[in-house]
Amino acid sequence: MELHDGFIRARALQLAAELQIADLLSDGPRSTDDLATATATDSRSLYRLLRLLAGCGIVSEVEPRSFAVTATGAHLQGDHPQSVKATLLSAGLFHPVYADAMHSLRTGEPAFPKTFGKPLFDYLKDHPEQATLFNGAMADASRLETAALLEAFDFSGARGIVDVGGGTGTLLGAVLSAYPQSTGVVYDLPHLAAEAAAKAEAAGVADRLTFTGGDFFQEVPAGGDLYLLKSIVHDWPDEDAVRILRGCRRAMSPQSRLLLIERVLPPGDDDHPGKAMDITLLVVLGGRERTEDEYSALLAEAGFRLTGVTPTASPMSVVEAVPVQD
Ligand SMILES: C[S@@+](CC[C@H](N)C(=O)[O-])C[C@H]1O[C@@H](n2cnc3c(N)ncnc32)[C@H](O)[C@@H]1O
Repeated sequence: MELHDGFIRARALQLAAELQIADLLSDGPRSTDDLATATATDSRSLYRLLRLLAGCGIVSEVEPRSFAVTATGAHLQGDHPQSVKATLLSAGLFHPVYADAMHSLRTGEPAFPKTFGKPLFDYLKDHPEQATLFNGAMADASRLETAALLEAFDFSGARGIVDVGGGTGTLLGAVLSAYPQSTGVVYDLPHLAAEAAAKAEAAGVADRLTFTGGDFFQEVPAGGDLYLLKSIVHDWPDEDAVRILRGCRRAMSPQSRLLLIERVLPPGDDDHPGKAMDITLLVVLGGRERTEDEYSALLAEAGFRLTGVTPTASPMSVVEAVPVQD
């Protein structure tokens, strides 16, 4: 039954983010009545939500009907260095898609176009507010995963890095901050340009990070010695993933290296965050999480040889590959 209730707890977290509860508690505990006034909610209903959130470890009832935010709950604050607020705010977009999940099970096709009339990335192009939330969610994940990635992989040999589908540049910004000798290009859809430029400026790497807008199914910028694709290959079914990888292969020199940063699925029954993400990919995009063998086969089809898989302290692994010489 606890598993069955999971969606209620997930929705409670999203409601807390929408109501800015953790932000409102950043200066100390507040009464439920006070929070209800600040959030334009019914105080008795809000108390019931806060009581559930206390059971989840997000807030604590420090006096009767007064709540403080916990260290875990502070991650719901927008200015927390490891904030997940944008992730929770953007999750609402996917609720109706999950309601249509049976479509994916019956047909093998993503449900998002059935629910919203077009594929996710086309929808985001036409809905800037949702796009900002989605890009924020991607940045949340990158912030959480970057420290583990920098610990697991030595980027010092890479002078010119191309982050293919690099979003607004959170990952590449962090890599360039850690490696002052390197320069980089974030390559993503043109509508991300302004957000990416602002982020590079804020990260203090605007002189070494440029944004190039384009479509990775058409072409990929040439000239990099390291090509980075984080959470890109998993968005797509095999034939599309191979097209993207072949585009990278064409842009690369024989000495360039390719890094896929993905949740590599372990064999067997053990739970892994990638197994839940895999269902999101099924219903939202028609993509998939893959095992090491599946990555190896996909890379071979696109003209690469998998040379290693390095786990990180996060759920992400680094899949390394080199171009096979013709
Ligand atoms: C799952 S997000 C990953 C973003 C980033 N790599 C990260 O890990 O935070 C997928 C990215 O692919 C980009 N994208 C989707 N279709 C694209 C296309 N045809 N050409 C270039 N970028 C594309 C999206 O805009 C988005 O930033």
